[in-house]
Amino acid sequence: MVTLSILCVSGPNLQLLGAREPSIYGTTTLDQIHQALTATAQSLNATVTCRQSNHEGDIVTWIGEALGTHHGILINPGALTHTSIAIYDAIKAVSLPAVEVHLSNPDARESFRRRSRVAPACLGRIAGFGDASYTLALAGLVGALRRQST
Ligand code: DQA
Repeated sequence: MVTLSILCVSGPNLQLLGAREPSIYGTTTLDQIHQALTATAQSLNATVTCRQSNHEGDIVTWIGEALGTHHGILINPGALTHTSIAIYDAIKAVSLPAVEVHLSNPDARESFRRRSRVAPACLGRIAGFGDASYTLALAGLVGALRRQST
């Protein structure tokens, strides 16, 4: 079985997880989420490279660099979900399977969170399960990649 390489990118303000609005996002830190992803990846015969930036350009660059390096992408674009055509374009440009991840359920919150600019470039979306959204999304993405290659 091929070891799959996954890129996980988190966007603005997600470095504050643990302290940021815990009633919405929980108390798990981004480092703890990255540790859980690494353990889950290992059990799925995959590896995960985790990054976070508050800058749209970094995220666009990392998605571009994923071509030829990673098999798929997990992305929590944070607030850029609702605005970033550049991230949509970057995912379309590399044509890698991507899963949009959210800790909260944006559809159950303010109306401005109901539109995702990124979702139409993605294979699927996992939202509303707190920190578990990330590991659920990883399992979904790895399963899809394995099915693709059989
Ligand atoms: C979020 C949801 C977004 O609407 C918000 O701007 C975030 C976090 C989430 O993970 O629930 O920064 O992406």
